[in-house]
Amino acid sequence: MKTDYIKRVMIAGGLFLIMSAFSASCGGGDPAVEPQVTSPGGDIEVAFWLRGGEPHYRVDYRGKAVIHPSALGFTFRNKPPLLDGFVIKNAETSSFDETWRPVWGQRSEIRNNYNELRVVLSQEKSGGREMAVVFRVYDDGVGFRYEIPRQKNIEDFEIMSEKTQFTFAGDHSVWYIPADLDSYEHLYRNAPLSEVRATATPVTMETEDGLYLSVHEAALTDYPEMTLSAVWGRDFVLESNLAPWPDGVRVKGKTPLRTPWRTLQIAESPGGLIESSLILNLNEPCVIEDTSWIKPMKYIGIWWGMHIGKYSFHVGPNHGATTQNARRYIDFAGAHGIKGLLIEGWNTGWDRWGQKDAYSYTESYPDFDLEEVTRYAREKGVVIIGHHETGGDVPSYEEQLDAAFDLYKRVGITAIKTGYAGRIFPRGQYHHGQYMVRHYRMVVERAAEYGFMLDVHEPIKPTGISRTYPNMMTREGVRGNEYNAWSEGNPPEHETILAFTRMLAGPLDYTPVIFDCLYEKYKPDNRVHTTLAKQLALFIVLYSPIQMAADLIENYEGHPAFEFIEEAPVDWDDTMVLNGKIGDYVTIARRSGDTFFIGSITDEEAREFEVALSFLRPGVEYAARIYADAPGSDWETNPHAYEIIERRVDSDTVLTLKLAPGGGQAISIVPAGAAE
Ligand code: NOJ
Ligand code: CA
Repeated sequence: MKTDYIKRVMIAGGLFLIMSAFSASCGGGDPAVEPQVTSPGGDIEVAFWLRGGEPHYRVDYRGKAVIHPSALGFTFRNKPPLLDGFVIKNAETSSFDETWRPVWGQRSEIRNNYNELRVVLSQEKSGGREMAVVFRVYDDGVGFRYEIPRQKNIEDFEIMSEKTQFTFAGDHSVWYIPADLDSYEHLYRNAPLSEVRATATPVTMETEDGLYLSVHEAALTDYPEMTLSAVWGRDFVLESNLAPWPDGVRVKGKTPLRTPWRTLQIAESPGGLIESSLILNLNEPCVIEDTSWIKPMKYIGIWWGMHIGKYSFHVGPNHGATTQNARRYIDFAGAHGIKGLLIEGWNTGWDRWGQKDAYSYTESYPDFDLEEVTRYAREKGVVIIGHHETGGDVPSYEEQLDAAFDLYKRVGITAIKTGYAGRIFPRGQYHHGQYMVRHYRMVVERAAEYGFMLDVHEPIKPTGISRTYPNMMTREGVRGNEYNAWSEGNPPEHETILAFTRMLAGPLDYTPVIFDCLYEKYKPDNRVHTTLAKQLALFIVLYSPIQMAADLIENYEGHPAFEFIEEAPVDWDDTMVLNGKIGDYVTIARRSGDTFFIGSITDEEAREFEVALSFLRPGVEYAARIYADAPGSDWETNPHAYEIIERRVDSDTVLTLKLAPGGGQAISIVPAGAAE
């Protein structure tokens, strides 16, 4: 097995000194004795507690409650619940400290440092059934999960509900999308916690004390997605609600069971949530032996043209995926140092989208020659990103998977975008249920065997499994730029919320960089709700290791602002959030080697920021290229006006960033010597 760590310290655990108090003889548990564990830096404390035999936990930050005592447990079909009647059999702490190197990411080294509390419970009234709750407490938050070991009273199981509760300490301000078993492609809402009925995760909150919280999950494996529902009659309590199978069962399996981690990120600034690596740290290390073929890249696509109606997905007079058009796009990519080219609509079936067995994954439309296109791409140093739209027809994709992968392998394709746009077959299954979690994982594992990187659309949300399978590069699971092509679109504040919500889960294929903000020739009633400079800034702000410049190539050809995309890396050594307010603005600086790139975006308000470049190496002079909104730029009335400003900067420089309404700014900073 590959080890991705470079330094690891495991400090042997200690039984609690008060262990004798937890012996089976102490009945329903002694409320005065709570096994506890604190974060390495001491700010976060988690305590476990049996209230009359019912398991509870609580979380404090600097001595103040963040999560009041909250219930834990399960109910089953045809089995008594694991909710009450427990005694603590054992409670143990241990510490762990490693620094590991992701194959790609927002930083090149990640410290994984936590203290763990493992509480083993026994339910005497049901013959001593056992369940453990494991808490890992980091400086940036908490993860906990359940373990149900193999035991004679629980072998096969059908979980009807997971009763994990989060009892928040106040009526926090919440940014959330509604819980939807099939889609994450919603606009975010901001409401007091008391008005939230059901939410997907990550769900992000600001407390009255100015603390920032986000609840999500990590390492979602063979289990359904967790959403959170308000508990009727209880203030500020959210309870896990798992996506069901068609028969209403939530989780089907056999013991031993280890659930995904339930996570709570805690930060004193909104940017602290973005800088946290909690979700990745709670995943298993990389299992792919040789990762040399996994390479982040920028890409363009025969794609936006279909969404704005220039091209059709299916064969016909405006077919986008023709050999001839592919050559044009390959030429552009090759000439501009863009590694990847996505081609959608190359295979037969698009005219039957939504029907059963619509697609073939091996048969091209007659005007598209896959062999020739991949050969020509190779000649130009370009990689074709293959495409498998399933329309939700999972059985048909699974049947064709080997043949589809064999074909792509044979023609030298190394990255595939998949899609599940439509209701899932078999009908009754949801995109976010256990059936689909298994399917998505199976595809990731098979793709790893074949040597394919993945970009999944209509996916299950990211939960950090890219640590374990770094070929799982990016995914949608977001209301992306495509909505600007054919709906009322995404309002200017949308991306300033995404950075603090959806992006906490993992990379997102938002498909930014639309230069022609109005596409009047094709869709006069639709438009992007940003300035051009903001589209550039999104390339840096919204992280994706396979990152798209999504516009038609004719809109890039000869455009001076495209130089920013040519220059910008998509894999980073470090990431720093320079400022941010959820739903208003955010500025992120990312470092790759000696170069720095900054993206700053605002909502519909114009803003001016002072940004200190104190993170630059002292004593080094850098050349900065600033792609800014021009005076008079406005997303509504003047989206295309921008200017490029060149100047020298160093670690003492304080830049003034001026952002137009719905605007942004993108900056490249390279050592001055290298720029000459
Ligand atoms: C929806 C995806 O989000 C989009 O990227 C894709 O072009 C269409 N489905 C067709 O597969
Ligand atoms: Ca989509």
